[in-house]
Amino acid sequence: MTGDDVFLPRDLPIWEAARPYLDVRNNDEHTVIAYALAKMLLAEIPEADASTVLPAVILHDVGWKRIDPDLLLLAIGRNPTRKDLVFEHEKHSVEIAREILERLRPEGVDIDAVLAIIDGHDTTKEARSPEDAVLKDADKGWRSTPHGMRTIAGWYEVPLSEIVLMLEERSNALMLTPAGRALAEGQTAAVKTELMLERYLGRGPEFTTVISEGGKPW
Ligand SMILES: [Fe+2]
Ligand SMILES: [Fe+2]
Repeated sequence: MTGDDVFLPRDLPIWEAARPYLDVRNNDEHTVIAYALAKMLLAEIPEADASTVLPAVILHDVGWKRIDPDLLLLAIGRNPTRKDLVFEHEKHSVEIAREILERLRPEGVDIDAVLAIIDGHDTTKEARSPEDAVLKDADKGWRSTPHGMRTIAGWYEVPLSEIVLMLEERSNALMLTPAGRALAEGQTAAVKTELMLERYLGRGPEFTTVISEGGKPW
């Protein structure tokens, strides 16, 4: 990542327009981190067009806002019972994204290309284009980040070891690019090993307390 900014100047208005739709199920946090992952992946995958991928990352999940919040966790996880809602959130995301992009008309962004990869970002599993592959890997790759793992563990109130299992058994196999797969498998291996340190050291990790800028322990 270059500099201190996550979002490119072109994408900041898109982010501001998307925010009111992202305040469900940590989608706002997920989106910012997935955007950063997409930038990293784009540096490794130059054939993917960043002006399509990055707006699509910001807007891919805005449609969850229109789904009953009580049903959200039934649509995902290890044993989803409401997979139809995954399909529905994609359709809503396309509608909302179209409205936002046609209003903002960001320079150099092919709106139809952005909408094409938002549609089906969860319900299709193959890489339909390099841009689609990067969007999907940034989205699913988030699950393997420290933030993603802790967030998902909190949703289901399960220990981190269950999330590691979910990543190993299901999620990491969905990664489509070599860079994305290395990202997901590397982070999963690191956290899995952290949970096993006691076996080799007779104790868990000796974290010193790191205080972040906000004053909260990291
Ligand atoms: Fe999604
Ligand atoms: Fe997502």
